[in-house]
Amino acid sequence: MEYVIRTENLEKIYISKGKGLFRRKKREVHALKGIDFQVKKGEIFGLLGPNGAGKTTLIKILTTLLLPTSGRARVNGYDVIKEERKVRASIGCMLMGERGLYWKLTGRENLEYFGALYYVPKKRRRERIEYLIELLDLGDFIDRTVETYSSGQKMIVSFAKALINDAPTLFLDEPTIAMDVHAARKLREIVKDLNKQGKTIIYTTHLMHEADELCDRIAIIDKGEIKAIGTPAELKASIRQEGIVRIEGIIPQKALEALRSMGSVEKLAVEEKGGKEHLRIITANSRSALPEIIRVLVENESTLEYISPEEPTLEDVFVKLTGRTLSEDTREINEPEPDKSR
Ligand SMILES: Nc1ncnc2c1ncn2[C@@H]1O[C@H](COP(=O)(O)OP(=O)(O)O)[C@@H](O)[C@H]1O
Ligand SMILES: [Mg+2]
Repeated sequence: MEYVIRTENLEKIYISKGKGLFRRKKREVHALKGIDFQVKKGEIFGLLGPNGAGKTTLIKILTTLLLPTSGRARVNGYDVIKEERKVRASIGCMLMGERGLYWKLTGRENLEYFGALYYVPKKRRRERIEYLIELLDLGDFIDRTVETYSSGQKMIVSFAKALINDAPTLFLDEPTIAMDVHAARKLREIVKDLNKQGKTIIYTTHLMHEADELCDRIAIIDKGEIKAIGTPAELKASIRQEGIVRIEGIIPQKALEALRSMGSVEKLAVEEKGGKEHLRIITANSRSALPEIIRVLVENESTLEYISPEEPTLEDVFVKLTGRTLSEDTREINEPEPDKSR
């Protein structure tokens, strides 16, 4: 088996200064806690986890932008600490999207610059840029300065930047985050095509539908730990014997507490959307638990708009593993504001 990535017990502890009165006090954030995983050649490998899970930290270490506190990692056979240049020459990466572009340059100038940085010969660079303008529909804005771009346009040019050196391995860190639905769908189609052409892709997301649609295998990551790894089907099958119940309505706190204390309720995740509660309940067996769930909700003054047993999703796998949904923010410290002066 040929591996593109192998990591051994990667750890990252950030040490950051406190703010205001607490300036003198150092804070530690244990962002990665012993990450071990492998990515096979030719895979689209997903890292699925909520905001703050450690996805960007892991991608930064694998792309040599950040040193791990301890542990080891190899990318395309090269050590990320000792063979930084060789790693960089073998990868393309799109990290934190727009922050990686020079705002005073045009999109084309950015691609020229990064192409040169990656040692793409001049003639080849020109051909690549024309190819990418065509592939990604950049014609309308590529000759304007990046500061005039919408966030979606910045994202797509950052994506082009990741492809400029035609590297065999691509790291895409939440690439669709500032894109509209249409642009995001198109990007995923291109990712699939690139994969068919033989590229290995590491793709991070907090959106379960993206991971489910795209990825051959997925690592579910939460609070710096990989909680499960498998194909989307394997991960979902891991909770197939349980039953999932989806509920929407106006559900008071006391009803939620009553549900949580039911013996047949294993995990319960609540999201508030538009003044309503959206519940996903993992039960030992949804058919037998459903009547009791309804009774408990009604007795506790809930207004039910929708209730139904459902097929498990990757979100449910995450709920089962953590008791939280993927949309919950788990960051310990907000990252510094992007530097817009570049
Ligand atoms: N530069 C930093 N200094 C201190 N803490 C950080 C820094 N960057 C990220 N963190 C913290 O590390 C954890 C993981 O963050 P990150 O890797 O950005 O997660 P994700 O990309 O999955 O949202 C979070 O708790 C975050 O607040
Ligand atoms: Mg991130």
